[in-house]
Amino acid sequence: METRLFRLQGSESDWQPALAKAAAALRSGGLVAFPTETVYGLGANALDPQAVRRIFEAKGRPQDNPLIVHIARPEQVRELAQVTGSVAERLMQAFWPGPLTLVLPRLPVVPNEVTAGLETVAVRLPSHPIAQAMLRVAGLPVAAPSANRSGRPSPTRAEHVLEDMNGRVDVILDGGPCGIGVESTVVDCTSARPKVLRPGGVTPQDLERVVGSVDIDPRVLQVGRESDHGAAVPEEEEEDLGPVASPGMKYRHYAPQGEAILFEGDRAALADTLRREAETSVQRGLTVAVVATEETLAGYGGPGHRISLGSRADLAGIAAALFGALRRCDQVGAQRVLIEGVEPVGMGLAIANRLRRAAGGRIVRL
Ligand code: TXA
Ligand code: MG
Repeated sequence: METRLFRLQGSESDWQPALAKAAAALRSGGLVAFPTETVYGLGANALDPQAVRRIFEAKGRPQDNPLIVHIARPEQVRELAQVTGSVAERLMQAFWPGPLTLVLPRLPVVPNEVTAGLETVAVRLPSHPIAQAMLRVAGLPVAAPSANRSGRPSPTRAEHVLEDMNGRVDVILDGGPCGIGVESTVVDCTSARPKVLRPGGVTPQDLERVVGSVDIDPRVLQVGRESDHGAAVPEEEEEDLGPVASPGMKYRHYAPQGEAILFEGDRAALADTLRREAETSVQRGLTVAVVATEETLAGYGGPGHRISLGSRADLAGIAAALFGALRRCDQVGAQRVLIEGVEPVGMGLAIANRLRRAAGGRIVRL
């Protein structure tokens, strides 16, 4: 298949030719990659089972991992899901459009291909102007996972989508870099107490300001098993970690091709620890990348490619830089990737979740 990339600049009226192509592709069962405020999505008509199956093929995604349905207007949620209880209403009111996905009881119109056979459906109303315009012009709910090949870091630029999806999708809408850089927060609203299944662009503190208190699925920070000495036991790629509330949480994700090790905890000796690790790896003939904050890199005297996450003081900046940094590791051919962790608080929770998954459980606590 030939992939057509359209660069969208200027304002909505300038985008019309590209949006018309994207809408036509969606209406005829094709695949369109598009920017959202979080990451790029890989969209298909959510009401067309065959189109949705093509998403799984293009991504190489396990069939038991359900998709998020994107809508253009808040009222559309009622065409797909049962909105019961005031919690969902309050969350929609406060955070839509934006990086919040609600899991609700589904209506029969939603195909099994979207929900992976679950009785619930995940719905989100993105705030990105191009995503909104595309959804409006297409006039369809659009099922879309992140537009990466399964297991790879999510794409935050059209170039990342092209890397993974050239020849696998009909249209790519290039809207430049995504602002937030980590995916939406997924909240289960099927019971009275909302539960965060995946941390993301909306923090637990943001949610609590609106609905009092929220639960957090314990799996959010549990990835892999740590040994007694703090050195972690690696997970196999895509190893099934057992039944979970959000099926996507059980797979290794976001991983660079090299072996990634995450260093969490006290940063006092971090630069020295990274240097020793890097030196040992280089002695063994491995290409090393060090993914760390500016503050750490400033004191780092070791070998390897230095890939910056930005300043420690700017968690939003780290979130925005994260997936690009992990992809950069592959571009420099890193066989060993040493990564600085963040405290899992506020926006740090989503970042720590992605980093732990990228490291597949290889975590060293300092
Ligand atoms: O920011 C985002 O959410 C991006 C953009 C493109 O919107 N999309 C995204 O989709 O990250 P994806 O497929 O990569 O992740 C969807 C997550 C997975 O963890 C999946 O298991 C969960 O949402 N999910 C989807 N439907 C669900 C359901 N019915 N119940 C529980 N979890 C669900
Ligand atoms: Mg994804």
